[in-house]
Amino acid sequence: MDLILFGPPGAGKGTQAKRLVAAHGIPQISTGDLMRAERKSGSELGKRFDEYMSQGKLVPDAMVIELMEKRLTQDDAKDGAIFDGFPRTVAQAEALDSLLAKLGRKIDKVVVIDVAREEIVERVTGRRLCEETGREYHIRYNPPPPGVKVTQRGDDTEETAHKRYDTFEQNTLPVLPHYEAKGLVAKVNGVGALDEVTTRIEAVLPS
Ligand code: AP5
Repeated sequence: MDLILFGPPGAGKGTQAKRLVAAHGIPQISTGDLMRAERKSGSELGKRFDEYMSQGKLVPDAMVIELMEKRLTQDDAKDGAIFDGFPRTVAQAEALDSLLAKLGRKIDKVVVIDVAREEIVERVTGRRLCEETGREYHIRYNPPPPGVKVTQRGDDTEETAHKRYDTFEQNTLPVLPHYEAKGLVAKVNGVGALDEVTTRIEAVLPS
């Protein structure tokens, strides 16, 4: 199965993708995670990603598509993938269709995780990460245990959260008609307990 989790920054795409990985035996492919890993390596490419990411702007399509092509052809993605944060433009959606067609595949479902802007800003600004374990926390909903050292993503400030949401509305929402025309889109309410949201997503996936 090839599944797109679609939604604004902080909608819970990454959280829910991780929950679906084990159940469906396919990997999560997050372009944001791939870019952060490149940035952490200190490479020139990582520095170029950071110029856009730190401002809440989209990384140019050609760079993202190249990154995706490399990732999608790795062995663990041979039976499908959960795309998280990709595609974010119509050009990326068209490129993904071509990449999958070359592999004899196509997108099976696009699940829109629906969360309003005010909730998004609250979620994103409260997010914290433990670099050692990779676990994510939220200062209000899921605070880190005492003694656990956490950091905040550089783009999780209130100002950048709003910019990222604006970018989502301007550049990424226009991707939806591409998939609506194929009858592939299902919208789920992204507010509620993590288990509830997972159940809503599972309910709309192809059997
Ligand atoms: P990316 O890393 O993709 O970030 P994003 O889309 O902004 O998404 P997030 O990771 O912030 O949120 P999420 O929806 O995964 O939510 P999460 O599960 O973490 O992109 C970052 C940047 O990279 C972009 O701005 C851009 O510059 C660049 N980029 C990446 N992909 C690109 C592309 N394709 N093209 C061009 N540029 C690209 O949850 C968020 C928080 O909410 C967490 O604290 C979580 O614990 C909490 N939470 C989750 N679910 C719930 C719930 N049900 N109730 C309460 N809290 C919840």
